[in-house]
Order: sequence, then C-alpha cells, then structure tokens
Amino acid sequence: MALRDGRLIRRYVGLALTGLLITTTAGQSTAISAPRQDWPVYGGASAGDRYSPLDQINRTNVKSLKQAWRIDTGPGGLQDSPIIVGRMAYVLTPKQVLLALDGATGKQIWSFDPGVTGVLPSRGVSYWTDGKSDRRILMGAMGALWALNADTGKPISSFGQAGQANMREGLGSDPAATPVFMTTPGSIYKDLIIVGFRTSETPPAAAGAIRAYDVRTGKLRWTFNTIPRPGEVGYDSWPKTAWRTAGAANNWTGMVVDQARGIVYAPTGSAIPDFIGENRKGNNLFANSLLALDANSGKRIWHFQTTHHDIWDRDLPSPPVLLTVKHKGQSIDAVAQASKPGFVFLFNRATGKPLFPIQERAFPKSDIPGEQASPTQPIPQKPAPFARQTLTADMLTTRTAEAHSWAVKAFASLRSDGPYVPFGLDRETVVFPGFDGGAEWGGQAVDRKTGVFYINSNDVPWLAKLRKAATNSDAGSGSSIYEQQCAACHGTDRKGSGKDFPDLSTAGSRLTSPELNAIIVGGRGRMPGFPQLSSANLEALISFLRQGPAAAASDKAASASVEASIFTAPTPTYVFTGYKKFQDPDGYPAVKPPWGQLSAIDLNTGAYLWQVPLGEYPDLVAQGIRNTGSENYGGPIITAGGIVVIAATIFDRKIRAFDSKTGAQLWEEALPYAGNATPATYAIDGRQYILIATSGARDRTGPQGSAYVAYALPN
Ligand code: HEC
Repeated sequence: MALRDGRLIRRYVGLALTGLLITTTAGQSTAISAPRQDWPVYGGASAGDRYSPLDQINRTNVKSLKQAWRIDTGPGGLQDSPIIVGRMAYVLTPKQVLLALDGATGKQIWSFDPGVTGVLPSRGVSYWTDGKSDRRILMGAMGALWALNADTGKPISSFGQAGQANMREGLGSDPAATPVFMTTPGSIYKDLIIVGFRTSETPPAAAGAIRAYDVRTGKLRWTFNTIPRPGEVGYDSWPKTAWRTAGAANNWTGMVVDQARGIVYAPTGSAIPDFIGENRKGNNLFANSLLALDANSGKRIWHFQTTHHDIWDRDLPSPPVLLTVKHKGQSIDAVAQASKPGFVFLFNRATGKPLFPIQERAFPKSDIPGEQASPTQPIPQKPAPFARQTLTADMLTTRTAEAHSWAVKAFASLRSDGPYVPFGLDRETVVFPGFDGGAEWGGQAVDRKTGVFYINSNDVPWLAKLRKAATNSDAGSGSSIYEQQCAACHGTDRKGSGKDFPDLSTAGSRLTSPELNAIIVGGRGRMPGFPQLSSANLEALISFLRQGPAAAASDKAASASVEASIFTAPTPTYVFTGYKKFQDPDGYPAVKPPWGQLSAIDLNTGAYLWQVPLGEYPDLVAQGIRNTGSENYGGPIITAGGIVVIAATIFDRKIRAFDSKTGAQLWEEALPYAGNATPATYAIDGRQYILIATSGARDRTGPQGSAYVAYALPN
C-alpha cells in the first residue's frame, strides 16, 4: 500500500507542477498529496468527528470543484451518508437497495435488495473486517440487520437466518407487531455491532434497547434497557409498573465509540407518548440521556439526562462526537452532545463530569391535570445556545407589512415564555427552536486539530397545543385510533401541516385500501410504520380514512365490533393537536431571519468563532431578499484543507464550502435535489472526491427524484 501511495503522491506532485493544483500557504507542503483515504464509518470515523485528513481540495482551490459523476436512484427520500472503503462507495436508494459503486466513476459493481416494502430513509451502512479476507457490510432494513459480503453483496449465510438477524425479536412483544426500524447504521467495536432503532412515537412503542450483536453470527451479545427493569438504576424514575408498558427512550440517531477505552456513547430520545407524561411520572431515565456504556458488556459507566420528564419531544437528535480539548491548561478527552433546544453539552469522556457548568434552572409547572413537569431542567452555561430561545414581539417578521401585522396579531394569542413551558389546552405555546431543532440528525463535525465544533441548525418557531382525547368508550374506533396514532403529525382535523405532513382529509378517496394499508403498516419518509395495529384496528382506521370528514361521525356505530383497545399502555387523557410551524400566510417563518445557521464553536473556550446564515429561499432571492438562512437537514464535514462542506438546505438545493477559520463562503453549487444528508469525502487513485446524497422528498413543490453527486477538482 505504501508503495502505491508513494506513486500516487508523485503523480500529484506532477500535477501540481503543471499548475493544476495550488498549495496553500508556505509550509503546508502536504497540500499536494492525496493518498488513498477511506470514509469507512458513518460519521467519517469511530469518533464521529467527520474530519478528513485530505487537503487536496482546500480553501484556495475549492471554487474550482466540478461534478465528477452522478447516478440517479429514483423517486423518494434519501438521508444516507455513504461509506467508502477502498474503491467502493456503498450507497442506499430510496427503496433501500444497497449499491456498491466505484467511488471514482459511480459505476455500479453490485446491488443488494433486501426486499422491503416500507420506505423509511436509512442513513447508511456499517463496515467490518477481521483485518484479513472477511469483509462485511452490515445493513439495517426495516426490522432486519443484514450481513453482506463487502465484495460481492451476497448475504453471509452463517449470519442470523440466511444473512439477516431479526431485530424485532427479544423485546418482549410479538416480533411481527413490534415497531422496530433500523434506520441508522450500527457502531462497530471489535467483533460487535451495537445498534439502537427507530420506533413509533405513540403507544405502543418498543422500549429502547441498545443491543450488541456478534458481527460473525448475528447472535445477541448484550442488551442495555433504556427503560430500567425492577432493581436496575433509574427504575425509581418511573411509576413502578411503567417498564411493562412504557416505550421508546430509544437511540434512533446512532452512537460513537471510543475504541481505545472500549466505551460506546449513545444518546436517546424521549419516552412515549411524546407530549403526555401523565402515565410516566418521574424523570424517566434513560430517556433524553447521553449514556456511556462499556462496549464489551453494555454495563452503564455514566449518564447525563439533558431533559427531565420530556413532554416536548426534545430527543437527543444526533450522535455525539469525541474530541480532545484544552481546559484550564489540561488536555482532556471529551464527548460533546448537541441538543434540539440548541445547546452543546461537553463532558469528560471517561468520567461524565461536565467541562462547563450546567445549571438546573427552574421552569413553569404544567396546568394539565395529572401532568407533573420537572421543576428544573439542565442548562449549559457555556457555550451559548446556537439557536434563539425565546420568541419576543421585536423578533416577529418584517418581511412585508402584511406579514408583520398578521404576525403581531397571531403572536398576541400565543404563549411565548421561552423553553420548557408545558403545553396547555387553552392556547398555543411557542416552541423555539422548533421540534426539528436547533440540532437535528445531521449533527456536527469537529476539527481534530483545533477542537472547533461546526454545527448547522434550524431557527424557526413551531406551535403546540393539547386537547382532551376522545372518551374511552370510543377506544378502538377508527377515529380514536386516528387521534392517538396519527393526529400528532396529520392533525386532529386530518388537514396535515404545510409541506411537512400531508393532508389526509382526501387520502381516502385518492388512495385505495391496499395502498393505505401498505403506507400505514410499512411507513413512509418520516412517518414510522405501524405493524402493531391489529388487522381489525387497521380496517377500522382505513374505513375511517376512506370516509369524508363529514361522515366521520358514523364511524362510531360502524366500529361496534372492533376490539376495545389496542393499547397495553393506559390510553392518554390528552392528545397533541398536531405539529405546526409558526408561519406567515405566505408560508415563510413568522420570525425575522436567520431561519437556519451554521456555527463554529471553539470547545476549548466555549466561545463562538463565527456564525453565518445557511441557505436561502429562491423566491425571496428573486425579490432581492438574501441570506435569510433556511430550514436544513443533514450535517457538515470538515477537512485538513480548511473547509467545512455542507448541503442540507431544503429550498435552494445547494452544496457549499466555508472557510473553517472565518466562515466565509468559498464555493456553492446547485444540486439536482436538496442535499438533505451528510456528505462524505475520500480519495481514490490520488484524487479527492466529495459525495452527497440528494432527494426531492422534503419539498414536494420542487423537482422529485434522487441522485448521488460526486465532486472533484478538474483532472
Ligand atoms: C411522525 C409523524 C407521522 C405519524 C405519527 C403518522 N404519519 Fe402519516 N405521514 C407522515 C409523513 C411525513 C408523510 C409523508 C411521507 C412521504 O411521502 O415522505 C405521511 C404520509 C401518509 C400517507 C400518504 C399520504 C399521501 O397523500 O400520499 C397516509 C395515508 C398516512 N400518512 C396515514 C397515516 C396514518 C393512518 C397514521 C396513523 C396510523 C399516520 N399516517 C401517522 C407523518 C406521520
């Protein structure tokens, strides 16, 4: 390999001499080398820092990047961050077919179709090797974990059942009816793959187990119950019997591993139901927590809960990142975790001790009968939050006079008292930053050399309200199943919300019963599947959807024969009325920009290096309104070339490179579809590439389709 790399370096020296490549400042002679460099892990490396030592593409020449290749992968959504090992780039299609491509040309080498019907976007796959000839790709697809030969794509027959292990088994419920979806790649430690899962956000959901499987056999090696059983630490943070009926608190976003220490760091989401805590009084450990587990055994080493008794869906949304910082003159191995409310929590990685003070701050009580909000929540004193925290009248949109006066009027009827205000029944409460952060699953990149943390974020307010649920005598009717399972996203009125959640009031006439059945059971995009619905309940729900809203009242009578309740958990007394953004009548956020940002935070000091708006709205740009920032999904990467590369913006569908020191934008290029994913960078045959997944699923008004696009400097 060294010989080969040596040859490649010479080739690049040659290229540099022809003047195609320019070195950066004097002394940085490595700028001309691009030995083979993989991107073998989701997150770039086990530490999750998305840092590449490649510097062929750098501050000076990034503006010359050109498309090297593109492959189209059909309609649907992509959130995949590819991994690259050797020449091979492993990418997923929206239908979850895995393609192995030549990373230099995009030419397909093999494909593997797990044959799933649901289309929940998966964020990637994992790679394992014994260091010799056994090289495997581990791939989640719906409820299964597959092991494939990395060279041929053939399932490894000695793994699980003919190449797949059933992740719905061993969770104490009927596997066929257990909502477990493998949408984020597992983390490799020795010969283990450590996985979480996505589950439903309404009862019943699977209880969030973190599990390690043998990569050779597919056998379960250890389980950590994120909802503790009797006798386990944290059990007393729930009602006594809750462990049988509670659900979620799951790791859906992935983990990182300190390979030397043998510690896996796993962030978790909220417990179900997301917004109603009456049946889960207490802090609800280990929901909304960063867990440090012994990677060999699954034993807990330390944990930190970032939201107590979550009734705001404040999941920890992204994997943490491992880095080394200087604090008080000492070099400390740390772990940093970003949150939806816009904070970065920084801990000593070995002990869990916070490196900046974290204050338990008092927040208001809930006025919902039976709801006991936590009296305090942990707020890091440093760094300052990377998104705004409290919507005030002076922040309301001034985009047009009409939008402004609309916003002033609307704002007067809202409760806007900052973070962690329990939702009420009488008026809507402002959630700022909204339910999609602050931080989202895109997460962050860290410069290994400087300890600077780069994160993109959303900065738009959402609104939330609760209402009383239908009475128990309705349980089991199509309308009450709809209210409990579907209304949070599609609205109690079935009208959906903006571009994010489709209107279902006409779905019953647009879609056939089998089509509805397939979507509901299998899920689609950000909608989880509902395999837990019995066939009688599914039928009741579909007949409810197939009736026009006016006819819905007759549903009660029709449902007499349906079983009383699908819930093993007590039915909540209140329901969330549906996700909703605070937008003006033209569909723009009703707050002043920035609506999306990219921040660089020095985690040695907690100080901001820079913060810039990320993304634009083409319609506003046409009116001369620039640099508003926009909502964005997908994360950044950073390279030794001094550039932070990120796409993520929904509406302008661009990929950009920023100067890591100053935040100055150095390059942008229009993508075929939005790059709502995290790029990867690698070098093959001495040439550095940047690869990004793009898809139209987030903006139904834009072009539909999906494609992978690779960029490189001109040959
Ligand atoms: C977590 C949010 C969420 C929940 C809960 C949810 N959905 Fe969805 N649903 C969505 C989103 C988002 C889409 C659009 C998916 C896509 O096309 O990418 C969707 C799409 C659909 C569609 C297709 C609509 C169309 O016009 O093609 C149907 C039908 C549907 N949902 C029914 C349901 C039913 C019934 C339930 C309850 C059992 C439910 N959904 C629960 C978010 C949700």
